[in-house]
Amino acid sequence: MAVNYQKEKGLFTLHTKTSTYQMKVDGHGVLLHTYYGPKTDDSDYSYLIMPVDRGFSGQPGDAGNERDYSLDFYPQEYPVYGNGDYRIIGMKAGRKGQVPALDLRYHSSTVTKGKYRLEGLPAMFAGEEEDGVSTLEVVLKDDCEEIYVHLLYGVYEKEDVITRAVRVENRTGSTVELKRVMSMSVDFYREDFDLIHFHGKHAMERQMERNALPHGITQISSRRGTSSHHHNPFVILGKKDATEDRGECCGFALLYSGSFQAQMEVDQLHQTRLTMGINDEEFCWRLEDGETFTAPEVCMVYTDEGFTGLTHRFQKAFYDHLIRSPWKNRRRPVLVNNWEATYFDFNKDKLMEIARQASELGLDMLVLDDGWFGARDTDNAGLGDWKVNEKKLGCSMKELAEAVNGLGLSFGLWFEPEMVNEDSDLYREHPDFALQIPGRPPVRARNQLVLDFSRKDVREYVERQVFQVLDEANIVYVKWDMNRSIESVYSAALPEGSQGEILHRYVLGMYEMSEHLLERYPELLLEGCSGGGGRFDAGMLYYAPQIWCSDNTDAIERLKIQYGTSFCYPMSTISAHVSVCPNHQNGRVTPFKTRGICAMQGAFGYELDLSKLSEEDKEEVRRQVKLYKENYQVILNGAYYRLTSPWENPDVTAWSYVAEDGSRAILAAVFTDLHGNPLAERVRWKGLDAYAVYEVEGREYTGAALMRGGCLLPVPKCNYDSCMLLAVKKQ
Ligand code: GLA
Repeated sequence: MAVNYQKEKGLFTLHTKTSTYQMKVDGHGVLLHTYYGPKTDDSDYSYLIMPVDRGFSGQPGDAGNERDYSLDFYPQEYPVYGNGDYRIIGMKAGRKGQVPALDLRYHSSTVTKGKYRLEGLPAMFAGEEEDGVSTLEVVLKDDCEEIYVHLLYGVYEKEDVITRAVRVENRTGSTVELKRVMSMSVDFYREDFDLIHFHGKHAMERQMERNALPHGITQISSRRGTSSHHHNPFVILGKKDATEDRGECCGFALLYSGSFQAQMEVDQLHQTRLTMGINDEEFCWRLEDGETFTAPEVCMVYTDEGFTGLTHRFQKAFYDHLIRSPWKNRRRPVLVNNWEATYFDFNKDKLMEIARQASELGLDMLVLDDGWFGARDTDNAGLGDWKVNEKKLGCSMKELAEAVNGLGLSFGLWFEPEMVNEDSDLYREHPDFALQIPGRPPVRARNQLVLDFSRKDVREYVERQVFQVLDEANIVYVKWDMNRSIESVYSAALPEGSQGEILHRYVLGMYEMSEHLLERYPELLLEGCSGGGGRFDAGMLYYAPQIWCSDNTDAIERLKIQYGTSFCYPMSTISAHVSVCPNHQNGRVTPFKTRGICAMQGAFGYELDLSKLSEEDKEEVRRQVKLYKENYQVILNGAYYRLTSPWENPDVTAWSYVAEDGSRAILAAVFTDLHGNPLAERVRWKGLDAYAVYEVEGREYTGAALMRGGCLLPVPKCNYDSCMLLAVKKQ
């Protein structure tokens, strides 16, 4: 039984394939957190809590003089502000205008088959029959007020993951102000964790970092209105000895694309607490009587199989139970995007030249990027005016799409629906559509302002324009971009006192419009983007099966970016393109072959003027496209292995995929340094069948040999050389 509720003991034990999670209602009705770790039995693990009278650790009212009971150090399932717990908490709220304080006690619970749903928010789903997933809902109630907190748990037994979310219900008869509502909290007994997280910047996202958690609070967060390039809403707590292949670690991924916050606190007793959810800075949600507020979902994994085990669980769970797109299992079109080829300087002839080459070389799609609308010849004007600039293009969008289709290619288009330039018809007509504080000059970024997507009328206005373009031409792919961080958060439409709701309402609005887009065009392939990977999070994957991973297209820097991204997100979601050299972001020169191998790590494409390539490079394109088409299933949905780390091995970064049915595997390696008098690099394959025989480059090896002995990689012949090896299982 995935959820075991022992009523008489007040004990809830959640089991997945290899992990167990437990909570218990204690004598005071407080829901304690008692266990999260390797799969175990249904014992009551509250014996691990040591009651003791500690100085400066007070008692909740009804505990009277029971001085060894204190919420200041007891592990709790959903700690709150105002009952003597001074650590980071899950929730802070109170009646409007009053001192915030809560004291949550157990009220009721239900266990149901299938997965709970979250209105207006991305959430993982169960299989067709709602099989293999159970929902536990535990309702807590404030001791004094009619405030109910519903803790939701989705237990995916086979996938080995647990999801969590929180719903707050106000039945007080008056307004409640929510100042913080985290999606989850988890307490660990004295444990010494390393924090592994993924920081970055524009054009250098998800750089892995591992540090010991110090005493006090550590925060990984964004208050940019998006999940951001700078921190990713995914963190890992790993035991000191956790490695790629073994050791205990827990991962937490937030399914949310706005300002978020993950906090870790090591307390006075060296216990660790982790909370995760919407960033509470500036957050204040006015919950009227009878209303509910839902905090976004977290997906969590515990494993003792190291980071590979962690990754496999996240990747598979997200692939099977989060990504909805009909494109999930289809071969993604190998596309050419004109951005780095032309930037804003294009017309029909130029685009058709690229398209003709693409068609000749075996590609599937042309994507027209920024600059086709309004007065958009630079990034200073035109955003918000989604009207085709036929003068610049030299034809209508319909004609362009038809011409592209005539070459056997499909056609895709770029939008940035959430933005506006002041130099645009939209802004001239509706300046109040932009988020800005009255009387203050706006903070501009890329010379643009952010549209107030918390407003339905604004979204509907944009939607109408976008749909009109999509209705007009045969467009099968949309790249939805978002090119700045949000600041000056003031909405002209929200009443006084509600401004703390804007950022979250904005995210809900963006999700709603994405949903409308997919409802209207169910076959659309939606690619997420925010200046590359500024909104690469599990929330977006509910709408977009692939996301432009970074504006940095340099193959070598992509090694680290894609390495970091792979920890949580399926490889099929990582959009990557071959671009020209010297690379436009950092000037580096790499072999064409290596650029292809790096871009083939995920959803593959090109971003250059194919018509300007040498014959040799064109031949290489043909080879790459063929290779990708033959192996896309392994790449998109095979088991992914990081074989070496670009952070630890200065000479080679290698990775591999093993097909679901084990019939073939691919190993790719990029050499990042050169040496005189070299010794060939030896890399061990992973995930093969030890007893099977595989053919690699015309030679036969047992799986055991490839995994234990490894194989010798060719010695690199030039800077940033690379190789790709295919292992085919013999029958
Ligand atoms: C962002 C995207 C790029 C490109 C430009 C266009 O930076 O990440 O791929 O679409 O915008 O302005």
